[in-house]
Amino acid sequence: MFIAVEGIDGSGKTTLTRLIGDRLSKGGHKVHLTREPTERFRMSDDESTRHDVQTAIELFFRFTEDRFHHQASIRENLEIGNIVLTDRYIASSLAYQGVLIEPVFGSPQETVEWMLQVSRIIEVLTDSTIYLDIEPETALKRIGNRGKYSGFENAAYLSKVREYYRIVLDRNTLFLDSTGDMEEVAENALEYIVKKLC
Ligand code: TMP
Repeated sequence: MFIAVEGIDGSGKTTLTRLIGDRLSKGGHKVHLTREPTERFRMSDDESTRHDVQTAIELFFRFTEDRFHHQASIRENLEIGNIVLTDRYIASSLAYQGVLIEPVFGSPQETVEWMLQVSRIIEVLTDSTIYLDIEPETALKRIGNRGKYSGFENAAYLSKVREYYRIVLDRNTLFLDSTGDMEEVAENALEYIVKKLC
């Protein structure tokens, strides 16, 4: 089973992935945790702050290329029966880059349609997504407490990314409010995964 955890920066994805991973392992499941962008991906601070169409298109192709490599190790893990949990996957590109590419197409629907065409080179697709929903202002406060900001992290942009997530996520998505206690969020996510495994 292949599950992606998605959400805006500061939504708690990394904490959730770790919590679910630990609990599934303790429950006797074989789990492989992974994330995007992968180690091989390079993005300058400048690129993450430049919110223009050209940079977004270039980053979209680079994130997709990174994913193309990433899918090989995901496939290997799935083949040996591991549950694979990834912190970000295709939906991250559709949401983060889609917002900025939209002026080319004029509507979110056409933008996403084009991005999905390009993403057809990705053959390993998720079975389910867990989406952590949170107000951008609350998420940014969390990141502020960690003391690390990237160029993608500003409230106006993240509000639009959040809207895009709502457009691109399909029926196989569990939407969870991640404003509160992450242990509780993890319980709900785990219940959902265990049901899917049965
Ligand atoms: P992270 O904060 O989850 O490590 O992700 C790093 C940044 O990369 C985050 O701001 C979201 C961004 N990103 C995209 O814009 N598009 C993508 O396809 C991926 C995987 C990440």
